[in-house]
Amino acid sequence: MDFARQLKAAINIVDVVGEEVRLKRVGSSQRYMGLCPFHTEKTPSFSVHSGMQIFICFGCGAKGDVFEFVKEMHHVTFPEAVKILADRYGFEMPKRAPHGDRESRLREAVYRMNEIALAHFRGLLTGPHGAEARRYLLERGVSAPTAEQFGLGLAERGGAALTQILQKEGFAEYFEESGLVMKRQDGSGFFDRFRGRIIFPIHNEQGKIAGFAGRALAKGDEPKYLNSPETAVYKKSLLLYNLNRAREAARKEGRFLLVEGYMDVIGLCSVGITDVVASCGTALTHGQVKLMKRFADQVIVNFDPDAAGARGAAKSIEVLLDENARVRILELDEDLDPDEYVRKHGAERYRELASHAPNYYFWLADQARKRFDSRTAEGRGQALQFLLPAIQRIPDKIERAGVAGDLAAYLGVDRGMILEQFKKAALDQRERKTAFREEPVPAVEKLLLRALLLYPGLREELAPQLEREDVLLEFRLRPVFETLLALFRAQPDFEYAELDARLEDSGRSLLSRVLFADEMEETGDMDQARLDALSCLRTLEARTREGKVSSLQRMAKEAIDRGNTNEAMRLMEELDALKRQHRRVRTGR
Ligand code: UTP
Ligand code: MN
Repeated sequence: MDFARQLKAAINIVDVVGEEVRLKRVGSSQRYMGLCPFHTEKTPSFSVHSGMQIFICFGCGAKGDVFEFVKEMHHVTFPEAVKILADRYGFEMPKRAPHGDRESRLREAVYRMNEIALAHFRGLLTGPHGAEARRYLLERGVSAPTAEQFGLGLAERGGAALTQILQKEGFAEYFEESGLVMKRQDGSGFFDRFRGRIIFPIHNEQGKIAGFAGRALAKGDEPKYLNSPETAVYKKSLLLYNLNRAREAARKEGRFLLVEGYMDVIGLCSVGITDVVASCGTALTHGQVKLMKRFADQVIVNFDPDAAGARGAAKSIEVLLDENARVRILELDEDLDPDEYVRKHGAERYRELASHAPNYYFWLADQARKRFDSRTAEGRGQALQFLLPAIQRIPDKIERAGVAGDLAAYLGVDRGMILEQFKKAALDQRERKTAFREEPVPAVEKLLLRALLLYPGLREELAPQLEREDVLLEFRLRPVFETLLALFRAQPDFEYAELDARLEDSGRSLLSRVLFADEMEETGDMDQARLDALSCLRTLEARTREGKVSSLQRMAKEAIDRGNTNEAMRLMEELDALKRQHRRVRTGR
């Protein structure tokens, strides 16, 4: 058995998934449910099956085994997923590790280069040449311990030092792909990307250094912040500054503070407000929100008080709402950004403001109030129109009606007026839902399929009985069973994924629906599964026989009607034989 297979057999997918997703066991079954980490949802359609050792989401279609889960979750390749799990569960990777592909080697190299670079940058900041930079940081309220905590460093002006170090360490092959080293225009060599800048390392959520930002030290140096380019490990749309440090606090608090700048993050953290993250110089992306939502549902948006801040906030709020985050808005007075604010007024006052930050919809209603005259009916109507698009986007019907009602009350608008609008929307949604309803799968088929899939030990006994006569003819899941039987003949100990891979899309979705169907609770008891399956087979055989009897009877009658007595006699004899056989079966073989 290869290493990955051994590893997979030794660990439980429920534990692995459980570290990232809050899972709830369904009764006493082998199934667990939770909110899908791969798409946005309010009611769980994500299941993990401990018997099959697979996960599946009926909402977005994500599915697979434990390696697939880690791949998706951490955006890594298969060999990396194997390594992550092996490390986490204390298994030693075989010497000639299976992560030999170029992509994973590149990632490993870039991570390693980033570590080397950071050590170099930090040494410069704390060393004799770092005096000016240290003074700059102190002036901005960043103490030495805070600088150390955030791993701040310094890139020297010359632009040769890091390139040399990386060359010596044997990373020349990866120079340009690392984002740390640039090629001279005239091709005459390489030089450091970051020069004369304060360095902020940017970690991924697991705490590995993904890339860097460098802030210009000299006034007027452009750009103010220079970030790593996209590399094999620096994907800016999937990184949040400080997430690695903020994640635990956010989980506890149930919320994140979202600010604009690196300096805001550092300023807040240094006064003990630690559940804070920032995007790295881009508008917030769906990927970043999904990342946050793995730790907390609520996001307090606290952007800079200028116009750029307002634009950024508006865009980010769109994405946050899109992903069903609960959004609150924190606006600071005196035109201060979060960093300036806590330095001037202290953590307590900031905390107080944050705890009273209004929910996005009320904040929006306040905007509407400022804009329209709520003393007149017309003004209130306009305010309502201004709010409607935002309210209409709330996917959950009950919540939508709730928010609408609250806002109507807040604005002094007639509740009926607003509710009218939403009844219509609700109707539309209901229509869409019924269109997707599927024909149910009979219980006998479900039980048989589960027995065959969950208990390889039962296959030998059950498979031949399914192949007999026309048992499968009327099956709703016939293509699934036929594929399964063919697979069984080729490879008796096949896994779920192997069957899944051989099915057409429709069969595939039927298969997963059956395995994770809610009304069935299989307890992991093989003997019970066997008895259930055998009784299903008997039911099916009886049904087939009855079908045959009635079709023989019909054919015989037709033969008589046509006047074909010979044919009728032959059919009657056949029918008699069949009935005798049934009697034998019923009284025991
Ligand atoms: P700010 O200019 O508000 O930065 O830009 P800041 O973090 O508050 O820094 P100080 O206080 O001026 O030192 C907000 C964020 O926008 C990105 C950075 O992520 C920055 O933290 N940004 C800004 C860039 O990526 N490049 C730039 O040139 C400027
Ligand atoms: Mn700032």
